[in-house]
Amino acid sequence: MTFFRLTSIFAGMTIDKAVIPVAGLGTRLLPTTKAVPKEMLPAGRLPIIHHVVEELIAAGIRRILFVSSRSKVAIENHFDDYSQLLMALELDGRDVREVGRFDYRQRGIEFFFTRQQVPLGGTKPLGTGDAIAAAESFVGDSDFVVAFGDSIIHGERDPSLLQRMVSSHADRESACTIGAWNVEADQVSNYGILVPRDDEADFQDCRLQDVIEKPSPGVTQSRLAVSARYVFGAEIFAQIRAVAPAANGEIYLTDAIRRLIENGREVRAVRLADGEQRYDIGNHRAYFRTFVDFALKDPEWGDDLKDYLRERLARDDV
Ligand code: UTP
Repeated sequence: MTFFRLTSIFAGMTIDKAVIPVAGLGTRLLPTTKAVPKEMLPAGRLPIIHHVVEELIAAGIRRILFVSSRSKVAIENHFDDYSQLLMALELDGRDVREVGRFDYRQRGIEFFFTRQQVPLGGTKPLGTGDAIAAAESFVGDSDFVVAFGDSIIHGERDPSLLQRMVSSHADRESACTIGAWNVEADQVSNYGILVPRDDEADFQDCRLQDVIEKPSPGVTQSRLAVSARYVFGAEIFAQIRAVAPAANGEIYLTDAIRRLIENGREVRAVRLADGEQRYDIGNHRAYFRTFVDFALKDPEWGDDLKDYLRERLARDDV
């Protein structure tokens, strides 16, 4: 027991690299995303990608690689050095505390950018597995976190989901640890679904016997879905290289994870706990809800918005 705790504190501190894939086309959010990356849409007063980066930093991440594309340069600009802007505001006598909080250089955070290439003659990037493959030289042989840039995990819990995942990964010496949440039965075919081993099915942290990308109804009883957060060892790169493209040409990360399980490697899921919520903004319905939830949490204007919504919904023309 003591050994586990000591290892997790020590090993948890050694995972300081994260990869955020942001090279997808965001077609489900068109026309909103024709010129604006979906990861740059606001949730409350911060862009979605900014919430993701803060979540990673809170879990001990210090070096972040964005796997990006030519249409996503706004993300690179957003995390660029803030010092000129700060200076201009200060010269104007403005309060810079809010903006200064996001001076990442001061906080010791490094950002790196690479691009996922669209294959010659192709029209779209080849999926999340292909995006993670582009991170291989950044990662080297360390364990690393992957966080999808279009999903926020929100909660006040300490330790956070990501911290629990990193601890579990180190304690169990797993090859892969996946953040997980339960979805409704009719939603199963929209997600990567995780199948726990029978003897661990109800555990908060369970070993997996299978991972199935968007299963058809009836293929599995499991409703445990991937939640856009992963911890990997570097062996995932060899598995990605061995994956055959799906019918649509994409290389799914879930297929590479499945190969780890087939090779007898430990792959685990850590569930979201009470009070933690996943916001996936991939379609307009989910995006609208996410924006409203975060705007309602705003310390300055949240209560005002609540009053406005009550008043607005009480009117006949809604
Ligand atoms: P999604 O599949 O949800 O995003 O990928 P998408 O492809 O942009 O969305 P649609 O289906 O066209 O609407 C989840 C995350 O992985 C990134 C996306 O940018 C998103 O943040 N991604 C996806 C890549 O980096 N590369 C890819 O080839 C696909």
